Amino acid sequence: MDYIDTSPFVRLTDSEFDYFVQFVRNRYGIDLSQKRRLIEARLAGELKTYGFTSYDQYIALLKANPSSDKIENFINKITTNYSYFNREMEHYDYLINTVIPAFTQAKKSSIKIWSAGCSTGEEPYNIAMAIDTALGMKRSLWNVSVTATDVSTRALAAAKKGEYPEGELKDMPEAWRNSYMTKLPNGNYQVKESIQRAVTFSQFNLMDPFPQKQYDVIFCRNVMIYFKQPTSQEVIKKFFQSTIAGGYLFIGHSETISRLDNQYTYIRPSIYQKAKKP
Ligand SMILES: C[S@@+](CC[C@H](N)C(=O)[O-])C[C@H]1O[C@@H](n2cnc3c(N)ncnc32)[C@H](O)[C@@H]1O
Repeated sequence: MDYIDTSPFVRLTDSEFDYFVQFVRNRYGIDLSQKRRLIEARLAGELKTYGFTSYDQYIALLKANPSSDKIENFINKITTNYSYFNREMEHYDYLINTVIPAFTQAKKSSIKIWSAGCSTGEEPYNIAMAIDTALGMKRSLWNVSVTATDVSTRALAAAKKGEYPEGELKDMPEAWRNSYMTKLPNGNYQVKESIQRAVTFSQFNLMDPFPQKQYDVIFCRNVMIYFKQPTSQEVIKKFFQSTIAGGYLFIGHSETISRLDNQYTYIRPSIYQKAKKP
């Protein structure tokens, strides 16, 4: 029986597919080797926009414009930015019940957190909400900074806006919704200014060298699931250099990091700590 191609998308040839897999892995760390249909589906709109009939034409466009909005649109299409409020709530509980009390006891009055792969902003805003909850009346005495980065400019634009449909808040505790969100006339919810003020968004590719900055806590959740193991290990090494002694790394619940090649101390699933100085 003849094979009937029912796909609505232009099909990738093997060499076009290989090009995208190599390019995205080398430049962004993301492994697309099992995602042939995803590439076709995500790039269909780009082909249509330019009136191209093959991916080779699109590849030629990317090659001719190596650092341009063409590449930016491409990576905006390729990344998966799925996120929602209060995802993996245990991490926020850990911040509230363990990290902030320990820092308070150590007489700290500032905390620097990095949300790496922040997507559309739910995670860094949740971090700011958790810290506000933990500090309560003492919040104004603390310097709180949440650095939120992602490679996708489209996700970052949505994050900066801080406006979300009600469905996105389904897991948010009532008290947080009341304290930290404002209902807009269009039915959406806006993150309150007091929370937005603590968060700074910027584009950053985790494959690039890290700035010489140290963080008390790094969140990198549901990002490294898209990387191959050696890439994740390289990124984790860089995170380790960017964590203060006694600071933490939180990864996604479904992610693991190899205990062999990892300098952090395992605390519990998805939570790691850099040893305190003796
Ligand atoms: C599924 S979202 C996770 C969002 C959030 N951390 C969470 O757990 O809900 C993964 C994010 O990682 C980002 N990402 C993927 N590769 C990246 C890279 N090389 N550098 C920076 N961000 C990257 C994607 O753009 C995407 O927004």
